[in-house]
Amino acid sequence: MCGDCPEEIVSARKGSPLILGVGDGELMLASDVAAIISRTQNVVYLKDGEILHMTAKNFSITTLDAEDVSPVVDRITWNIEDSELSGYAHFMEKEIFEQPAALENTMRGRFSEDGSTAQFGGLNISAVDLRQIDRFHFLACGSAWHACLVAEHLIERFARVPVEVDYASEFRYRNMPLGNNTLFFTVSQSGETSDTLAAMREARRKGYKVLAINNVVGSSIAREADGGIYQHVGPEIGVASTKAFTSQLLVGAMLALYLGRMRDMNFSDGVEYVQALKAVPDLVRKTLELAPRIKEIAQRYAHFHDFLFLGRLSLFPVALEGALKLKEISYIHAEGYPAAEMKHGPIALISEHCPSVFFVPSGEMFNKVVSSMQEIKARKGKIIAVATENCDLPAGLADEIIRIPECHEAVLPIVATVPVQLLSYYIADELKRDVDKPRNLAKSVTVE
Ligand code: AGP
Repeated sequence: MCGDCPEEIVSARKGSPLILGVGDGELMLASDVAAIISRTQNVVYLKDGEILHMTAKNFSITTLDAEDVSPVVDRITWNIEDSELSGYAHFMEKEIFEQPAALENTMRGRFSEDGSTAQFGGLNISAVDLRQIDRFHFLACGSAWHACLVAEHLIERFARVPVEVDYASEFRYRNMPLGNNTLFFTVSQSGETSDTLAAMREARRKGYKVLAINNVVGSSIAREADGGIYQHVGPEIGVASTKAFTSQLLVGAMLALYLGRMRDMNFSDGVEYVQALKAVPDLVRKTLELAPRIKEIAQRYAHFHDFLFLGRLSLFPVALEGALKLKEISYIHAEGYPAAEMKHGPIALISEHCPSVFFVPSGEMFNKVVSSMQEIKARKGKIIAVATENCDLPAGLADEIIRIPECHEAVLPIVATVPVQLLSYYIADELKRDVDKPRNLAKSVTVE
């Protein structure tokens, strides 16, 4: 603002996001639609290098060379209710409980008519070209990076194509051979994370196609990508990612199916996989019924200062996510590790003062995980086991058992995430933390 023109605000976009909200007799500036959705659904996304002049009643946009730009007013499809607490104590709690519906929205219209594979409208790459890709490279930060690790596991397992996962912030500064037939994916809820945007631009500068998996329609990453998959989970307002994370896991699982069916996965395995995906909302609904039991565990464990989260294969990234959730909203120190790796160092932390959260699946990994649990128990460590229903755990091994439903391995990470979201939420609430706005954190990290 300038003293000579007190009625005017001038703003410009360079790097970080800037949007104009066009309300009923009012105009608003924000970096994220979630900030203004309670007042208007009409927005103008500014591009880098554009200058916005606004008065109380009007606005105009020009380029740096003072050329007029005709503004495009987009309509956000999110509802006003999405930005309200609707009886919940916090947005994080609301968003955890919204997950069955959110996951349904992510899947809607995305299965083939014969029910044997997934389909995506906006990939902008033909099946023939996709078939030629011999390496996928995923770029993301934070929880989205954890989702990429699960996608890596599933794509390699079901589509048999090698996958590389990088922290977006590291990718730009690494100097690795990338190969010719590599396709990039960025994963970002907000679509505005500066490191992810910069990594995407770097990959495109090198001549690669980049597809984006993200939630916010019209975000910078969505607009600059060559194509992609929207998550459709509505606004995520709590700083700790919950419904956006499980939806990213779901998109990864659907992608593994789609790529797998283009390669060796047969029709009946595809049909079984699709059925497993369709069951996810109900499995999550069932898992959410455990909330009172998890709250009671949280109240008894909230005074500990250190936690370990341990899991194997696709549940290792879920262990990372559990540790991240706990530390970011409760400020309790927590680390995630592959369960067997614990004996190479972290086991030194174990005593009656450091509980471990174990993810225990039935099947081939069961005995291996049990043996890691026994090592913890022998050192007086308390154990909270998130175990599937058929796991016959030795009596007395776990101090607490949270039973989750048995399910297809492609969706197990989604179901296993829910108890640790609830555990972190209830611990943080017990400690009276500012759950939705934890200290030192921002919802979208728009700086390098
Ligand atoms: C998750 O709980 C975090 N708040 C954070 O790690 C987040 O996932 C990360 O900043 C990436 O955000 P994005 O998905 O919007 O790119």
